Amino acid sequence: MKTLKIGILGAGSFSRAFVPLFKAHPLVRGVSLAELIPERRRAEAASAGVTETYGSLEELLASDCDAVAIFTQRWMHARQAIAALKAGKHVYSAVPAGTTVEELAELVETVRRTGLTYMLGETSYYYPSAIFCREMWRQGKFGRFVYGEGEYMHDMSHGFYEAYKYSGGPDWKRTAGVPPMFYPTHTLSMIVSVTGARMTQVSCLGQVDESGDGVFGKGLNEWDNEFSNETALFRTSDGGSARINEFRRVGHWGGRSVRLSLFGTEGCFEEQPDGDVWVNRQREVTSVSDLLRCSNDAAWSMQPGTKPEDGTQHDFHSGMAPVHPLWRLPKELVNMPTGHFGSHLFLVDDFVRACAAGKLPPNHVWAAARYNIPGLVAHESSRRGGELLAVPDLGEPPAGSSFLEPDLASLAPPVPAWTLPGPAYVGKSWW
Ligand SMILES: NC(=O)c1ccc[n+]([C@@H]2O[C@H](COP(=O)([O-])OP(=O)(O)OC[C@H]3O[C@@H](n4cnc5c(N)ncnc54)[C@H](O)[C@@H]3O)[C@@H](O)[C@H]2O)c1
Repeated sequence: MKTLKIGILGAGSFSRAFVPLFKAHPLVRGVSLAELIPERRRAEAASAGVTETYGSLEELLASDCDAVAIFTQRWMHARQAIAALKAGKHVYSAVPAGTTVEELAELVETVRRTGLTYMLGETSYYYPSAIFCREMWRQGKFGRFVYGEGEYMHDMSHGFYEAYKYSGGPDWKRTAGVPPMFYPTHTLSMIVSVTGARMTQVSCLGQVDESGDGVFGKGLNEWDNEFSNETALFRTSDGGSARINEFRRVGHWGGRSVRLSLFGTEGCFEEQPDGDVWVNRQREVTSVSDLLRCSNDAAWSMQPGTKPEDGTQHDFHSGMAPVHPLWRLPKELVNMPTGHFGSHLFLVDDFVRACAAGKLPPNHVWAAARYNIPGLVAHESSRRGGELLAVPDLGEPPAGSSFLEPDLASLAPPVPAWTLPGPAYVGKSWW
């Protein structure tokens, strides 16, 4: 099968977790690294063992890499992805895909025209709760979709000030005040990827920040944004509804910062800080916490021996959960460190396999637009005091596209890797 040379764009803290994974993938024959800041470029290249480096996107695009993996600041992705596609490179992009509907439309059109692979690196898609719900949905256990809840709660004091200073330089507050709904893909992807329906209308309310930290407020940032928390209610194309919370000023513990709950006419899934539960119309209550719990502790491990020495950085060293399809990973990746609830290994594997096979990965550009645009329109609604607005849609992959998922499914073991445990109890009627 075809092998790839991957050019990593951006040597910040996130790409650090991915360079070793791309290097280890059996279908990758080489990795190069481009970074604007020379000291960062040198330090990351040395620690990751990368010998081929570049000082800009333009230099990287002039090189012989087959694909560019974008790990730059969150407002840069769409323009850089379009430039890379125009230069004939496949594109992996960290989230979000874009920050305006116009640039997302141009991105979709460029992918369509070039026929190259684009994949959004959406970590939530591979979270245990999303994987579990997609399987229950496939089996028809939810019935008809009623309502979904997604939330991303990340208080500014939980590492965001430091990250924005590192990303934004001396004027970092100008970009730290980005509207919360401009980062909506973690939450929207979990609902959209389960039901396949899209968001059609939205009404959103923003909470004006009162912290006085100089980040959120009129005139303080690039978006003139005063909201640090936003709550959006959507109509979905299958007749249901969904509520998304994007909170950046909230007294929440931060451990399970991205959460999904989904309600159907036959069954429901609820994810809570202290446990996950599947319930159904027959009043069966099933704890699925063990199935969905990521760990790399020896007793629990789906990935023994990958725990970092410091043992602290859960985001970047989460381990795996029993629900994760480890069986489909190349053996070279299985015992590599993974983060964000087990997602990193699957992100890399899906992208590389999709490029090599010339097939659409799960989070292709049309899916990415459906995870992203509803948030952009939601913010506009919050600026207009909650006005109900239509959500534009950029459509579906062209007819005749071939998808990677059937290839992955064909790797499944003959016996299911997991089954739903028996119910913990069957509730009595209270009336
Ligand atoms: N769970 C998740 O999905 C998740 C988690 C963390 C970060 N992210 C995303 O990953 C991205 C990277 O995050 P980070 O914290 O590493 O960012 P960062 O700001 O620390 O690093 C970005 C780097 O890209 C470099 N860069 C920008 N433009 C460049 C260019 N044209 N050429 C070469 N280098 C360039 C910058 O100099 C910087 O060093 C962000 O968009 C963030 O939203 C996603």
